[in-house]
Formats: sequence, structure tokens, C-alpha cells
Amino acid sequence: MPNFGDYQLEIYFAGLRGERTPFPIDIHELEAKAHTTMPRDLLSYVAGGCGDERTQRINVEAFQRWGLVPRMLVSPTQRDLSIEMFGLKLPSPVFMSPIGVLGICTQDQHGDLAAARASAQTGVPLVASTLSMDPLEDVARECGSTPSFFQLYTPTDRELAESFVKRAEAAGYKGLIVTLDTWLPGWRPRDLSMGNFPQLRGLCLENYFSDPVFLKKLEKSPREDLRTAAMVWARLFGNPLTWNDLPWLRSITRLPLILKGILHPDDVRRAIDAGADGIFCSNHGGRQANGGVPALDHLPEVVAAAGSVPVLFDSGIRSGTDVVKALAMGARAVGIGRPYVYGAAIGGTAGIRHVLRSMLAEADLLMAVDGYPTLKDLNPEALRRVG
Ligand SMILES: Cc1cc2nc3c(=O)[nH]c(=O)nc-3n(C[C@H](O)[C@H](O)[C@H](O)COP(=O)(O)O)c2cc1C
Repeated sequence: MPNFGDYQLEIYFAGLRGERTPFPIDIHELEAKAHTTMPRDLLSYVAGGCGDERTQRINVEAFQRWGLVPRMLVSPTQRDLSIEMFGLKLPSPVFMSPIGVLGICTQDQHGDLAAARASAQTGVPLVASTLSMDPLEDVARECGSTPSFFQLYTPTDRELAESFVKRAEAAGYKGLIVTLDTWLPGWRPRDLSMGNFPQLRGLCLENYFSDPVFLKKLEKSPREDLRTAAMVWARLFGNPLTWNDLPWLRSITRLPLILKGILHPDDVRRAIDAGADGIFCSNHGGRQANGGVPALDHLPEVVAAAGSVPVLFDSGIRSGTDVVKALAMGARAVGIGRPYVYGAAIGGTAGIRHVLRSMLAEADLLMAVDGYPTLKDLNPEALRRVG
């Protein structure tokens, strides 16, 4: 059985033939290269965050405070990184987090489809955002046999919300991830300086523009009057959900319900009591609220409060090593965010595939060298604080 780490052999053997990988391996180089290919306003939207971006920075830095303890004379020649979650058997514990402007990050403006194809090719699930350049049905189709999840920004109009959910179910998504921290956008100086909010320009709204409930609210089609359609979207976008809405959310789907943005243990317990099947520990990569603590610091408490309920994690993952640390802290699966967007900007499907394979190769090789054959062998005992 191949290991994910074998990707390095492919790269070295290609080197013997005089072929260099077209995509950067180093995350900083990847980011720098993406910066040269993306328009300035889009780059600011992707790379920027809330306030002075301190939360965003410390999300990443938090991983440096932890180290994995090597165990010798284990030498696992075969590693098993597979997981089970919501009745699914997945080959790896990594997924692509939802990215609302992914569609416009590739040259052809079909970044959501590019990610779906990378998902089909790597077995890494995609969490498809509500905000996309292609309708959720087309995105699901391109995921092939790899399971995918639909991320819901719950509209203020319940009929529209239910329509999205029914469409996601019919399209074959395997879970519904409801994002709780974005019922209004946080204060983002980079975007404010440029006066740029892509959706207000009518971008990445194809799920709305293909929805019969949304279209009923328009006098003219979005093709005829994009500006009005975008304004109607703005009115419907952000639902300030409360705990009172949770029974309704639970009632509108038979899919596993996963709540994204939960960080306090009391909220974890309350969500599970209300019927959540999964908890997504994330601070939205520091895009929504500044002045927080790193998402990683919340993870142990969230895992403890969740008990046997799976905890998904993202915010700050920049390498396979980070993935391993989050898994050791108890995450069931780990979401890659900005890095795969940079892969998309540089090389579409191939660029995303490269980022995902690199993350998995690094995680797998770390587990090999440090003597952790399976994810069950990774637990908080495997980590030490860096002095
Ligand atoms: C440009 C951009 C767009 C995003 N769009 C969404 C979205 O549509 N829905 C959502 O739940 N989260 C969204 N997120 C948050 C990501 O899903 C994820 O939580 C975050 O990127 C993790 O932080 P990191 O990229 O710094 O690791 C977005 C993040 C970025 C960078």
C-alpha cells in the first residue's frame, strides 16, 4: 500500500529527469507566488483578516509552541491515516475548509470546480461554501466518489435556507456545516481600505442565482440586473441565529449537522444537547473577530466537552506538521484553508492537489520518523510544550 509520504519520491525522481516541481513546496514561497498571480483586491480579501490581524497571526504561531515527542524502534513502514466520521470511512484526516471566494481565485473563475476535481483526485473532502461561482450541484458532481460537505450561511429567509438544504441533500452532500460566526462581517481593514466586498459586486452568488426561492424575490433575472440581485442577496445573507433557532435547523435536514465556530465548552455541550452531530472548532482564521486566543488553544477544551462527538478543526494550519499536532490534541479531522486557495491561484486543480498532497506527505513522514503508525497512537501525551 502506498503511503502519502511517497509524494516526495515522485518529486525526487522527477528531479532526476531534470524536472522541477512547478509548485512551491515551502508555504512562504507558495504564498508569495500566489501574491504575484492574484489581483490586489482579491489577494487582500484572502490574505487579510480582522482588525490588526493579531488573531490571524497567533493562530499560526500557536503551533510553534508544541512539539511531537519522537518514539524510536517503532519504525512504522506502513502508516494508516484513515478516519471514520459520520459513518464515512475517509483515507485521510484532512479536508478543504469552505472558502467563499474560491471561485474567483482561479484564472478561469471556476475555482470551486477546481477544488472539487482536486478532491476527486486526492480523496480529500471538500466543504463547499454557500458562496460559490458554480451551483452546489455542479460542485458536488465534480467531487466524484469523494464525499463532500455543504457549508451553509443560513439566510434570513427560512424558505431559502430550507431550499439550499434540500438541494444539498439531493446533490449528495454527506453533511451540513452551519457557520455561526458570520451573520455579519467582522471589521477588515484591508477590504475596507479598498472598498472591496466581492459578493456585493454580484460575485460568488451562483447558489442564490440558481435557486427558485431566491429568484422569486427578483423582478428581473440576475443577468439582466445584477446590482439589484446583489442587494437582495445582501438583505438575505446574514441570519443572527440564536439557540432558539437550533431546533428548526436540526429539523430541516437528515444529514449530519456540524456547527462551525464553536469554541466555548458550554456552547459545545449545548450544541450537542440540541442535536449537533459534530463540532467545528474554528475562529474563521481570524477573519471575523480580532483580539481572540489562537483556535488551537481552544481545541483541548472543545474536545473534552464534545466527548465522543467528532471535533473538526481549522484556523492556522500551514503544514502537515500542524495537522499532526491538531490531531494529537484530539481533532478528528483538520481543515486546510488559505494554503489551498494559494494553490488554486497558482495552478487550479493541479495547484490544489499539490498543496493537499504536500500536507499529507509531511504529516505522514513525520508520523513515520517519530514512530506513530496510526492516528490512534497520537494523543496529547505525544506533545510537549516547546520551552
Ligand atoms: C478568503 C476566505 C473565505 C472564506 N469563506 C468562508 C466561507 O464561505 N464559509 C466559511 O464557513 N468559512 C469561510 N472561511 C473560513 C475558512 O473556512 C477557515 O475557517 C479559515 O480559512 C481557517 O483559517 P486559515 O485559512 O488561516 O487556516 C473563509 C476563509 C478565507 C480565507
